[in-house]
Amino acid sequence: MVWLPTRCIALLFCCFSSVERPSVSNRNQKAELVVNASGGRQIPETFFGIFFEEINHAGAGGLWAELVSNRGFEAVRQNKSLNIHPWSLIGDESSIIVSTDRSSCFKRNKIALRMEVLCDGDTCPVGRVGVYNPGFWGMDIKQGKIYKIVFYLRSLTSVNISVSLTSSDGLRTLANTNLIASAGDVSNWTKMETLLEAEETNPNARLQLKTSKKGVMWIDQVSAIPLDTYKSHGFRNDLSEMIANLKPRFLRFPGGNFVGGDLLRNAFRWKDTVGPWEERPGHFNDAWNYWTDDGLGYFEFLQLSEDLGALPIWVFNNGMSNLGREKASNVSLFVQEALEGIEFAIGDPSSKWGSVRAAMRHPKPFDLRYVAVGNEECYSMEKNAYKENYPKFYDMIKRYYPNIKVISNCDESVDQLDHPTDLYDFHIYTNASDLFSKAHHFDHTSRSGPKVFVSEYAVSGKDGGTGSLLAALGEAGFLVGLERNSDVVAMVCYAPLFVNVHDRSWNPDAIVFNSNQAYGTPSYWLQHFFTDTSGAMLLNTTLLTNSSTPILASAIAQWNSNDNMCFLKVKVFPSCS
Ligand code: AHR
Repeated sequence: MVWLPTRCIALLFCCFSSVERPSVSNRNQKAELVVNASGGRQIPETFFGIFFEEINHAGAGGLWAELVSNRGFEAVRQNKSLNIHPWSLIGDESSIIVSTDRSSCFKRNKIALRMEVLCDGDTCPVGRVGVYNPGFWGMDIKQGKIYKIVFYLRSLTSVNISVSLTSSDGLRTLANTNLIASAGDVSNWTKMETLLEAEETNPNARLQLKTSKKGVMWIDQVSAIPLDTYKSHGFRNDLSEMIANLKPRFLRFPGGNFVGGDLLRNAFRWKDTVGPWEERPGHFNDAWNYWTDDGLGYFEFLQLSEDLGALPIWVFNNGMSNLGREKASNVSLFVQEALEGIEFAIGDPSSKWGSVRAAMRHPKPFDLRYVAVGNEECYSMEKNAYKENYPKFYDMIKRYYPNIKVISNCDESVDQLDHPTDLYDFHIYTNASDLFSKAHHFDHTSRSGPKVFVSEYAVSGKDGGTGSLLAALGEAGFLVGLERNSDVVAMVCYAPLFVNVHDRSWNPDAIVFNSNQAYGTPSYWLQHFFTDTSGAMLLNTTLLTNSSTPILASAIAQWNSNDNMCFLKVKVFPSCS
């Protein structure tokens, strides 16, 4: 039974857990939902958001539209050995010798590719020799689109380089240009730049740099990026639109385990990810086992938040890695790094780090209001170390930035949260029926303490697979419970957001993609279903039922100021067990 305020339109959403015919006894089971639409409680405006982690090639080879993989030849493996993968030779060793050396002009990424061409003109096999890069499992090249190609070059002699986008076997040319330079022009490192317009479409293309001129040249920092990116800020359009359609009110980034790294030397250190892309050293993402050039860095995350109309939530490195931790005597360095990161985001353009942001053409401060002191350290063996270090971050952030809200990862009920915090993280990955039952998890949480940030949740394991309806149903029940407890649960986001089909490190995920296609799993569409919860009025409901199957329901109302109409949305989910 539903009472509707004047001019309210009712939308009723029901999901059924089974596709089997209901049994006779089920048919006799009844449920009645009484919705009192005359009052309620407002759900926080910032309730639903997204969590982006550099996992599953979500950014490098995903959301970040850079097509070249290992663009600076900097990639190192876990054992610290150099690795020019996925670059390959065109020609054979009798005509071209390729190696790396430390001759680059960039201070923080010294490695460059040395290419010694032994053949000349007609003596070169396949017309020309050189190197190619297939990107991240093939570059998506579209007819009529323009690609900006940049690379740095030094040569002892004059050069003649053909720059082309081709099919994966190099036989079909999709776009091509020839760059010619005299020895004088390129005797020092020189930035080469060109635009290529593709004449054909190919989702599995590669970039080739070829020559037929004998001599030695060095190449570094090779980039190929479509001109047409989301809001012209370097993000892949289709993937950005999928997250924009979730109407996220916040963006938590950049991890996850990515933040601390398994070893601290492999952690995400924000200062290495800002400034000109050519100068960024990149790092080995040892938590998820791949190299990232850090084109998608701290600045770009802040920019993406702004572009999505979402508040950025920066999870900063607190000096603890996943497998060990920095010595306590060094914690002050990490406190300083966190404060400087905040200054980068919101400081005046005349401040030290605000000026770096301004030089990146964003003089206006970003709207950073939340920071998290690391990720999951309080869940680990290092709980005591985390608790010991946390106040050093909290006190200094509150001293210099009293308006910034700080997030701890000590859970109030599990970890005896004994330090001041504005919010604390809650992470859960479990089976479908357990998550459904967790709808009641926060029913008795203290309303006088800090707020809860459900910053990672998903049905995982067998129930989740690589995405399933069953998973979405378990998550639906949980989210109905969070709506009801939104007086203490302030924010919620699913994890992980993205998976590249070629690197399924973690399943399931919300958005699945390859170089040119993407789809949302049922968990993605379930989030879509809940987008209008943020800021809506949660109405009081009573469910009267004789059903033995647990059922969860909620009703929200939302005014649309444009037409002065009110929508009533009722959601009803039976348990999947
Ligand atoms: O979301 C995948 C991982 O799960 C995150 O990196 C970590 O925070 C959690 O354990």
